[in-house]
Amino acid sequence: MFPTKVKALHRLLQFRHTFWCPPFGKASSSRLVLGIETSCDDTGAAVLDETGEILGESLHSQKDVHLRTGGIIPTVAQQLHRENIERVVQEALQRSNVDASQLSAVATTVKPGLALSLGVGLEFSQRFVRRHNKPFIPIHHMEAHALTVRMLQPVPFPFLVLLVSGGHSLLAVARGVDDFLLLGHSLDEAPGDTLDKVARRLSLTKHPQCSTLSGGQAIELLAKDGDRKKFRFRTPMGQTYDCCFSFAGLRTQVTMMIMKKEEEEGVEQGTLLSCVNDIAAATQHTVASHLAKRTHRAILFCKANGLLPSSSPTLVLSGGVASNQYIRKALTIITEKTGLQLLCPPAKFCTDNGVMIAWNGVERLREGKGILSPDVDVCYEAKAPLGVDMTADVKAADIKLPSVTLKILN
Ligand code: KG4
Ligand code: ZN
Repeated sequence: MFPTKVKALHRLLQFRHTFWCPPFGKASSSRLVLGIETSCDDTGAAVLDETGEILGESLHSQKDVHLRTGGIIPTVAQQLHRENIERVVQEALQRSNVDASQLSAVATTVKPGLALSLGVGLEFSQRFVRRHNKPFIPIHHMEAHALTVRMLQPVPFPFLVLLVSGGHSLLAVARGVDDFLLLGHSLDEAPGDTLDKVARRLSLTKHPQCSTLSGGQAIELLAKDGDRKKFRFRTPMGQTYDCCFSFAGLRTQVTMMIMKKEEEEGVEQGTLLSCVNDIAAATQHTVASHLAKRTHRAILFCKANGLLPSSSPTLVLSGGVASNQYIRKALTIITEKTGLQLLCPPAKFCTDNGVMIAWNGVERLREGKGILSPDVDVCYEAKAPLGVDMTADVKAADIKLPSVTLKILN
């Protein structure tokens, strides 16, 4: 399907950098990769061997600071990455019992993400690879989220992947380590961002059970004791028959409902509402329903165009928001209805970490793809689409969905 377009676009997307011939011979299980992640608010590092065994890792989360300041302030994130990156990398190496000289390559997230955060990881990594004369593997953060599952179990290409995090939501067919067909992406904000903002508007850090939780975690916890039917929010983009996402309108709907309830209860903004559990449940349900519908259409598009194997077609769900059990259940309903298996890494591998970056490095090292000499200058890219853009083809297919009831018990 679409071979000419895909091939032409794919040629354009090939790395434009000088390639490095790694100083090793045949594949050996002793090849070790250091992965470094700083694209958002987690400073992560890990050392993996070529089989995907995690030899050691370290992670510094900035979540508590950003919860206190009411969101990620890029300059604060940058400063915290600067303060922690050296220690985090040293810890990962020490815990692995690996000296820098033993590494086969260093893999680092260079796109997409917060510019100031990406810059810290990239600058550190380029100094590191030059000092130790090691190959450098620039990593696309979303490619890493998509491939993490293959570290945990054998998942052959191609497979469909839904990635949902604080910065992104996208649907893509993964056809190879660096070969993706993009079926849909968010037109405005990402679902994690929406949940974080709704949680903030509800002042959930004041809730005794939620003070240290991310917005998404807080919404999931409170929704367990809520009745989603007390509020009805419209599922976004009901009349647009593609696989793109939009969450900004939902946030407006929820915010207006919160304002109405504050008025009814006679309380100021910043006070915990009595109906907070119900609002959390209704918001979570609408996010789940939107994700389920777009994914359902993506599955039907893949089937109509032979993009997935007929035996054991797979949907991989990953990214921070994929930790949400309610959303997992919603997608299970869709995959059961369409005959796909749903695979989802455990929560600790869904959220950002150095392990997923090191694994992406291993996958690229194995295939000799995108491995650069240490002296090549690499720039970070705050915005970077993943793969060949097929969203117009999806829209042109104009696929109407059969109705599916998402009956999910908490
Ligand atoms: O992938 P990730 O760690 O960082 C980004 O690349 O953005 O995702 C972080 C996002 C945050 O917005 C957080 O609220 C959300 O994932 N998240 C959740 C849950 N745990 C984390 N959203 C819904 N339910 C959860 N259990
Ligand atoms: Zn992420």
